[in-house]
Amino acid sequence: VLTLTFNRVDKKNAITTTMYQTLASALRESAEDDSVRVAVLQGAVEIFSAGNDLADFLKNPPNPNELEKAPVVQFLQALHAFPKPIVAAVCGPAVGIGATMLLHCDLVYAGDNAAFSLPFVNLGVCAEGGSSVMLPQLVGFQRAAEKLLLGEAFYAEEALDMGIVSRILPPGDANAYAQAQAAKLAAKPASSLRVTKALMRKSQPGMQDMMLAEIREFVQLLSGPAAKEAITAVMEKRKPDFSKF
Ligand code: COA
Repeated sequence: VLTLTFNRVDKKNAITTTMYQTLASALRESAEDDSVRVAVLQGAVEIFSAGNDLADFLKNPPNPNELEKAPVVQFLQALHAFPKPIVAAVCGPAVGIGATMLLHCDLVYAGDNAAFSLPFVNLGVCAEGGSSVMLPQLVGFQRAAEKLLLGEAFYAEEALDMGIVSRILPPGDANAYAQAQAAKLAAKPASSLRVTKALMRKSQPGMQDMMLAEIREFVQLLSGPAAKEAITAVMEKRKPDFSKF
C-alpha cells in the first residue's frame, strides 16, 4: 500500500508546487511498480488540505505556455490515470483541489468533521480538477452549481448523500479505516481490480483534455485583477471588493 500523507499542518496542508511534484512522481512510479497494489491519500485528523498554496498562486503560477509540464497538471493527470485503487481519508477542511482530487479517488472515507468547499469563483478563478464535468454528472447540474458557482461549503452528511464520500466515521478512525480497506484491496487479484477500475472510469472519457482546458482558463483568470484582489484579500484576512471586476 502506497500511503501519501499531507503533512504541512501549520499551513493547513496547503499544497505547494514541490508537493505536487512529489505526489505526481510517487503516483507515476507506483503505477509501474507491481509491488504497489493500492494507494491511500490522507491528511491529519483536523485538516485534509486547504488546497493550492495561496502564495504560490501569486508568486509561482503555472506557465501558460507549458501547461502540460505544470506540477499541478502532472499531479492531476497522474491521479486520474492511476490504474490501481485509490482510497482517501478526509478529515477537517478539504478546500479547492483538496476536494476536487477526491473525485478521482475510488473509495473516500470522511471524518464527521469533514468540510468541503470549491471556492474557485470566490477566488476569481474557475473550476479545476475535472470538477466542472464530474460534479454535475455526479450530483446534477443545479446542485453542482451551488457548490461551483456560489462556492458554498458542504459537510460530511451532504457529501455522503451526493456520492462524493463512501462512508462517515469518527475523525480519529478515518485513516485507520482507509488503511484497513486498502489492505483488503491489496489482497485481491490486482488484474481484476485494474480492469474493473478501468471499466468504471470509461464513463469519464476525455477527462485529461478537460482538466487541461480547465487549467488553461484557470491560469488566465489567475493573472487577472479579480483573482489578485480575491487572493490578496484572503491572505490579508479581509473581504474582497469585486465591484470593479
Ligand atoms: N495557502 C497558503 N497558506 C494557507 C492556506 C493556503 N491555501 N490556507 C491556510 N493557510 C495558512 C494561513 O495563512 C495561516 O498561516 P499563518 O499561521 O502563517 O498566518 C495558517 O495556514 C492557518 O490558517 P487559518 O486560516 O488561520 O486556519 P483556520 O483553521 O482558521 O482555517 C481553512 C482553515 C482551511 C478553512 C482556511 O485556512 C482557508 O479557508 N484557507 C484558504 C483556502 C483556499 O482558499 N484555498 C485555495 C482554494 S483554490
